[in-house]
Amino acid sequence: MEQFFNLDPSLYVHPDVLDAERRRIFWRSWQLLGPASDVTEPGRYVAADVAGLGVIAIRGRDGALRGFRNVCRHRGARLLPQGKGQCGLIVCPYHKWSYSDTGALVQAPWFGKDPAIIPEDWPLEEIHLDTWRGLLFAAVDPVESLLDQLGDTVAELAGEPLESYTAAGTAKVEFDANWKIYTDNFVEGYHIPGTHPSFYAAIDFEAFSTTAHDGLVRMTAPPKDDLFYRGKWLWMWPNWTLSLFDGGMNTSRINPLGVDRTEQRYDFYFADTSPETEAARKKTIESNLAVVREDIDICADTHRNYAAGSYTPGPLSARHELGVHYFQERVRVALDDGSAPV
Ligand code: FES
Ligand SMILES: [Fe+2]
Repeated sequence: MEQFFNLDPSLYVHPDVLDAERRRIFWRSWQLLGPASDVTEPGRYVAADVAGLGVIAIRGRDGALRGFRNVCRHRGARLLPQGKGQCGLIVCPYHKWSYSDTGALVQAPWFGKDPAIIPEDWPLEEIHLDTWRGLLFAAVDPVESLLDQLGDTVAELAGEPLESYTAAGTAKVEFDANWKIYTDNFVEGYHIPGTHPSFYAAIDFEAFSTTAHDGLVRMTAPPKDDLFYRGKWLWMWPNWTLSLFDGGMNTSRINPLGVDRTEQRYDFYFADTSPETEAARKKTIESNLAVVREDIDICADTHRNYAAGSYTPGPLSARHELGVHYFQERVRVALDDGSAPV
């Protein structure tokens, strides 16, 4: 079998590479915003950051769901704070220009009349939105449909009752590492014995299995007793994840805040959200985040080594790191960069 190597470390630390990734990966792909149930009622919105570009999804009074850049047409201020909420007009906090939920400029107060502003010339800039099985996605400038991007994931999750779950909890984790270092970590189980001793003890690691194909890295391992995970962890191109629990799941999006800073935004979903299950749900969320936290320092230390130039690419395990190779190849193709060693 061919020996594959890790990506060139320069691709993890140069701001120019992140700029290229923004344009060629993040703004051309469908990005998971969270549960579609966040935007079912008129006026409900979600505002999110996509690799530095602010986006809004808002349900109009006419029932239509629309997406916009979260950028005022006047001098570019951010319109809505990140997160979910409810609004009537979208009012810019800077000089109070206001927009309707269709994106039309309604008013530019105190602007003056000579020359006057023509509102039709200054609507919010639209982006694309789509939903799939209860999940809301946005794309600034998509190169393919959401279903095409989802690829193998559609069949993989066909038997899971995703849309019957209720969103009941969010979390955000931030750390000092490039988004690809964290993704490299997520798409392999090789580090479980070293990094997650309790997790390791709770699965049959010898039976850990990874496949990588058509936008999906699928990792499975038979759980032993008392593991909250159901033994299946999925990563989808370019940057979202879905892990199954007993009676629920989480999703997350891995979002670069800078070349050396990344956030991972989690949503937790459960079949049973009754008060009686609250303690168990909290425990599941906390156990999940404890596993994530075990990864963060390793990723930050790895980033420092890459940034210091003290690392040359090492070999990837064909048994355990084919997900890493798959992800890195997708990045390499998206960047069209033939300079890195293969
Ligand atoms: S930047 Fe929004 S009103 Fe001026
Ligand atoms: Fe991990």
